[in-house]
Amino acid sequence: MMKAKVFAPVNLALIKYWGKKNTELRIPANSNLSICLNKLGTRTEVEFKKELKNDEVIIDDKEVIGRDRDRVVNHLNKIRKVANKNLKARVVSKNNFPKKAGLSSSASGFAALTLAGTKAIGLNLNKKDLSRLARMGSGSACRSIDDGWVEWLAGDSDKNSYGKSIFSKDYWEIRILVVVLSQKEKRVSSTDGHAVANTSPFFKTRLNNVNKRLKDLKEAINQKDFSKFGELIEDDCLSMHSVMLTSKPNLVYWLPETVRVMRSVQSWRENGLESYFTVNTGQNVFVVCKPGNEDELADKLSQLKGVIEVRRDGIGKGARLV
Ligand code: DP6
Repeated sequence: MMKAKVFAPVNLALIKYWGKKNTELRIPANSNLSICLNKLGTRTEVEFKKELKNDEVIIDDKEVIGRDRDRVVNHLNKIRKVANKNLKARVVSKNNFPKKAGLSSSASGFAALTLAGTKAIGLNLNKKDLSRLARMGSGSACRSIDDGWVEWLAGDSDKNSYGKSIFSKDYWEIRILVVVLSQKEKRVSSTDGHAVANTSPFFKTRLNNVNKRLKDLKEAINQKDFSKFGELIEDDCLSMHSVMLTSKPNLVYWLPETVRVMRSVQSWRENGLESYFTVNTGQNVFVVCKPGNEDELADKLSQLKGVIEVRRDGIGKGARLV
């Protein structure tokens, strides 16, 4: 049977991927680092069938059309090319996080599609090749193939740009609180945002600093120095948003509620309750803490104005068959 079912996790970037050296191949401007989440993710089933005349794409119980469908079909074409087979597929995909919450689903989605699609069509790629292929669907998806703490080695070609685990999921227990805020406006997609990163006068500055920050972060993880770790991830988040805010067109992804969460995290920290924030291309905030502070933080966060939900998660494995 030409069918496979896969779960792939959402990953959270601690050092961000923002801007590309090569748009078509999705080669990032800088190496970056993320953790795979344990619970949040996408479950995808792919079946190749002779009877199908066209690819069918169903995401969260709805048939997908337009740009989103094209992106999936393009990815299926890449898989068909590697396998040298020409069958159409039915793709059924479901995210286990709240819809319309603005949580990026392209990473887990394309990682799941890559593993399920290649397995269903009869390929047996190693993790490096799976990661390279997932990268072509969405850059950040290359970090949802391998387990735990994953570094995306920027490289400079299709061959040497991929995600690789540098610490296992159990190496250091960090908790992640996903703070879901009410969505009011449609945001600019990450893909469109990457394309204008180099119009910011601060983009060069970011690229001059980011490699040192990545190195320092790996050192902090090595030493399990949570304070150093947290400072560095907040720095990198704000460095990326400085680029976004000053691009043409400028990209303000934050809502007032986003800033409220960021400021609250900092003020609680000044009073001894330690946690750190990071934000991607949306209004939602990820707060990281040590296990002992999780309950108190989740409680405090859920009482803030505009917070719809606080999801608790940990560090998990990469994409796998289910
Ligand atoms: C801000 O991987 O979604 O989340 O390669 O164009 O699909 P494409 O972009 P995408 O960009 C993610 C940007 C980010 C930072 C990160 O995850 O590293």
